[in-house]
Amino acid sequence: MIFDTHAHYDDEAFEEDREELLAQMESAGIGGIVNVGASVRGIRASQELAERYPFVWAAVGAHPDEVGSLDEETLQWMYGLCQKPKTVAVGEIGLDYYWDKESHELQKQWLIRQLEMAKETGLPVNIHSREAAQDTFDIMKEHHAGTTGGIIHCFSSSAQMALEYVKLGYYIGIGGVVTFKNARVMKEVAAAVPLDRIVVETDCPYLAPAPNRGKRNSSIYLPLVIEEIARIRGVSAQEVEEATWENAHRVYKKLQ
Ligand code: NI
Repeated sequence: MIFDTHAHYDDEAFEEDREELLAQMESAGIGGIVNVGASVRGIRASQELAERYPFVWAAVGAHPDEVGSLDEETLQWMYGLCQKPKTVAVGEIGLDYYWDKESHELQKQWLIRQLEMAKETGLPVNIHSREAAQDTFDIMKEHHAGTTGGIIHCFSSSAQMALEYVKLGYYIGIGGVVTFKNARVMKEVAAAVPLDRIVVETDCPYLAPAPNRGKRNSSIYLPLVIEEIARIRGVSAQEVEEATWENAHRVYKKLQ
């Protein structure tokens, strides 16, 4: 079975056929999905999906683009949701200097506070980092390393940086990008990171793997990602599927 460690089924791209699509997951070999919160609305919707579907779990967190809407009251509400049995992670949290919607200081401040929330509630984290590789790494190292672990989602930095995160105890999330012809660095990452530290993810509705690039993504396309990782590493797809399933259960401890 395949485990999708990072999805956004609350997205409006699934408005028309969410139920039909999720009903197909089991027969498509998708055994588990973590629906990741990004905004206050997304956090709430992730909880609803986790309550409704036995194979869906939730992550609670505010994306760096959304931290401007956070306050103490919202943070307390999030702490409460972290205690729910089906909340398995804090995320997605991080830094995004590409969209740069909020000041770097505000992004860093809320990343650190949400890392503290993860530590205090015993949950691993799901980290988003875009064009902010060094700042993200420095904060992770100083404020979180050696605590509750987690996944560096949609990893997009160098293979060397991936191995630095592995040393700190993190897992590397690989998705559709690894299948793109020009994704040289991502293919290097898939080759360099030990197989017991790789998890697969969609980030759907975004980042559909080739040959569906540009289309709406869903967990049903994950075999394409697994096959590409297997090809790069010279192992069977079955081996990658089993390893990434086990890894997902090791990092998201509440699944066990
Ligand atoms: Ni995401």
